[in-house]
Amino acid sequence: MRSITFRLASLFALATLLVLASIAYFLSRSVETHLAEMDWTEIYGKWQLTSNLVQQIRTPADKKAFPALLQSALVGHPYLSVAVDTQAGATLFASSHFSFPAGHAAAAANGQPQFASMLTWQRHGDVFRGIAAKTASAEPGGPIYIIRIAVQTEEHRRFLAHFHHMLLLALLFGMSTSAGLGWFIARRGLLPIRHMAGVAGKISASQLAERLEIDSVPQELHDLAIAFNDMLARLENAFQRLSDFSADIAHELRTPINNLIIQSQVALSQNRTNDEYRDTLASNLEEFDRLARMISDMLFLAKADNGLMTTEQADVDLTNEIGHLLEYFSPVMEEQNVKVVMSGTGRVRGDRIMLQRALANLLSNAITHTPPGGAIQVRLQQQAQQLQIAIQNPGQGIPQEQLDRIFDRFYRLDPSRRASPDGAGLGLAITQSIIRAHNGTITVTSRDGMTIFIVTLPMQ
Ligand SMILES: Nc1ncnc2c1ncn2[C@@H]1O[C@H](COP(=O)(O)OP(=O)(O)O)[C@@H](O)[C@H]1O
Ligand SMILES: [Mg+2]
Repeated sequence: MRSITFRLASLFALATLLVLASIAYFLSRSVETHLAEMDWTEIYGKWQLTSNLVQQIRTPADKKAFPALLQSALVGHPYLSVAVDTQAGATLFASSHFSFPAGHAAAAANGQPQFASMLTWQRHGDVFRGIAAKTASAEPGGPIYIIRIAVQTEEHRRFLAHFHHMLLLALLFGMSTSAGLGWFIARRGLLPIRHMAGVAGKISASQLAERLEIDSVPQELHDLAIAFNDMLARLENAFQRLSDFSADIAHELRTPINNLIIQSQVALSQNRTNDEYRDTLASNLEEFDRLARMISDMLFLAKADNGLMTTEQADVDLTNEIGHLLEYFSPVMEEQNVKVVMSGTGRVRGDRIMLQRALANLLSNAITHTPPGGAIQVRLQQQAQQLQIAIQNPGQGIPQEQLDRIFDRFYRLDPSRRASPDGAGLGLAITQSIIRAHNGTITVTSRDGMTIFIVTLPMQ
């Protein structure tokens, strides 16, 4: 795209051109009219003079003296053509610059000539303006004479040409001046944008905390600056999460690997019986299992992050799936003396395995956090085009300020349980990814010793 400076400067120049050109047009039109009026004044004056002289012809002697009389009256007007003819066509007087178009005499007006009856014609490359009108003399019988007057407009045309030339120069000068001014003004006006670009250019991954000062930016750029700052905030947040995540991964992997190293070192420090070796290997295997699960969970989340998670579209009967899960969990529930009350039915379209995994995570959390003797409630409820699944369990609950963090990776309420075998804090993160991949939502509330997770899934 062309630079804004260039475009503004061109628009300035164009606007000036338009304004100046229309002014020039009206100026030259009025100058032309004025010149025509000046020609008319001169022609009419000479007509009056000639007509006056014609009216004074009374005798043949007067008629004879007439040409000399008129000649002397016209001295000093080289651009003037004057002709006086009888109506029959005999010439009484003709000036040396004699130049009339054919038929001019025949078109002679009766009485006073008018400005409107002035003719314009060309001859020998020159332009003339003139009139023809009749006047009666004072001779017996009152014969009528045709008087024709014309002026050569060369001088006026030269003036006009010069005038047009000057107008053109003024136009070009005005245009280039305003283009230059436009360029200057645009550069000045765009200074804040370059300032913004300067600030943006200084921001790197390690300086994501940098922000544009909204007040130092002109009003027109406020929205841009705000959007820019919002983008930085999002980037900073995502970047922070990413670095937290890497730190967490390192931390989470360190504990089981340290365990493995210590167990192996202890086993190797002296001779052991076969049983002791078997115990060590079995315990190592458990540790490896946990590591493998954690790694595959992390891979799953990484895929979900990159939109690589593919969900199959099948009819899933959630009543059924939850039933199967409760069967699967029944030994643990018995052991912990916890029971589940289920109500409602529902089916959705989605990926059966994934939905199963999401629900299993929620159920196992609920079972783990329900005190002995407690009852978990699972409610399926259809609302318009959505299915709502509520899983509610009694227990200590989750403090309000931690509610929105429990979906974060590796986040667990009780840090001392970090090494616990039941999870690395990835369960809810995975559940959330799965629900989101199904265009659903998951929320949690916890108060008065009741924790409720509510999953909403579209039914189509
Ligand atoms: N139903 C629940 N009642 C109370 N706390 C819960 C419940 N579900 C999850 N939590 C809290 O949220 C944390 C994160 O859960 P999760 O992501 O499944 O990780 P994990 O189960 O591996 O600890 C748990 O450590 C627990 O403190
Ligand atoms: Mg869990």
